[in-house]
Amino acid sequence: MNTLFEPIILPNGTVIKNRFFKSAMNEAMGTRNLQPKKEVVNLYRQWAQGGAGLVVTGNVMVDPTSLAEPGNVVFNEQSDMTTLKEWAQAGRTNGTAIMVQINHSGKQAPKTVNKQPVAPSVVPIEGSMANLFNAPRALSREEIKDLVQKFTTAAKVAKDAGFSGVQIHAAHGYLINQFLSPHDNRRTDEYGGNRDNRMRFLVEIYQGMRTACGADFPIGMKINSADFREGGFSEEDSLYVIQEMENLGLDFIEISGGNYEKPTMSASTSKGKNKVFFADYSKRLKNLVKIPVIVTGGIRSVESMVEVLETNTADFIGLARPMAIDPAIPNKIAEGSYETIETHHLSTGIKALDRKVASLLGIVYYQLLMHQYAKGKTPQVTRNAWPSLLHALYTQGLAGLFPQRAK
Ligand SMILES: Cc1cc2nc3c(=O)[nH]c(=O)nc-3n(C[C@H](O)[C@H](O)[C@H](O)COP(=O)(O)O)c2cc1C
Repeated sequence: MNTLFEPIILPNGTVIKNRFFKSAMNEAMGTRNLQPKKEVVNLYRQWAQGGAGLVVTGNVMVDPTSLAEPGNVVFNEQSDMTTLKEWAQAGRTNGTAIMVQINHSGKQAPKTVNKQPVAPSVVPIEGSMANLFNAPRALSREEIKDLVQKFTTAAKVAKDAGFSGVQIHAAHGYLINQFLSPHDNRRTDEYGGNRDNRMRFLVEIYQGMRTACGADFPIGMKINSADFREGGFSEEDSLYVIQEMENLGLDFIEISGGNYEKPTMSASTSKGKNKVFFADYSKRLKNLVKIPVIVTGGIRSVESMVEVLETNTADFIGLARPMAIDPAIPNKIAEGSYETIETHHLSTGIKALDRKVASLLGIVYYQLLMHQYAKGKTPQVTRNAWPSLLHALYTQGLAGLFPQRAK
């Protein structure tokens, strides 16, 4: 168990005090002007006080016209630096590192937040959630260059506000993932075709951020092991991209998988079932790279956390939903008062309705918990879906009742 509390040094020299990595969860705490509400400061202070070594924010967007869901925050020239500085400072309490996840939705922008999404190519979303999204239009080369600049600006804003680093969101089917995927990216210019071309957008973003923020500023990435679809982003693609990014100086890599068409990253976990998602892939990757690897998804028990480290599956334990239920899991493990946690299903009490809103419930429950902690309350863990649904309606209006992300 002691291995969980061993510090680790990122390639640029930043020391992270232990192996607990609070993975990104969109807090849905953005104002109408796309600035963070003050509550976010309180929430991140609790995660920092709870003992995690590295805390990643929910996805922060680079472009006000391309949000991923209601309640998003944008980092750009108009950012409210006062609140951002308070947010960064709260997240650094207790020797914790806080990094900002930076994202662009691309075509995964629901109709409720974006009527005309953009993407590398005109490839609409398929599957059961397809009717929630309008078909995208293809980005021009000038627009791609402009977006690279927007990602760079967002990273610089994060640095200037005092955050410890940034994480590029290249996973879960969002814009960078769309460029990487041969299914989504059908371009015939230098941004499409072979692997090097498909990763050009990512490389330009990384290099822009590195130049703007300097060699000492940690820049990591979240990426899919695969998209799990025929002709999509494969494990071989993923291993190639990560090794190239390591050569360019990336500081850490978080492994996830899936998108809105195949939401593998947030499969449900039930009592007694402790399957670490993407573990086999992560082990493969660990043998190929030297930068710290984080594996996220399904990790619940101390036993499985220790196993991840001892079997050389990853260097950090990525935790999302468990940390929304209990922000102090790392401290409790240190005290010996935590064994495991259940991330159970909620129910409206009406089976047919439960099936219809299952993906929505997978999100709004955790957002309700985050809002309650942010307000200084200790939430009651519940199985009743109605408070979460009403919270979504109250905070985001009707848009909050449409599935916002693939769980
Ligand atoms: C409410 C909620 C919001 C999420 N928001 C993000 C996000 O902004 N960025 C991201 O990369 N993943 C996001 N995720 C996915 C998690 O980071 C994580 O990959 C997934 O929940 C699996 O980990 P877990 O089993 O520990 O929850 C979100 C998950 C939830 C439940």
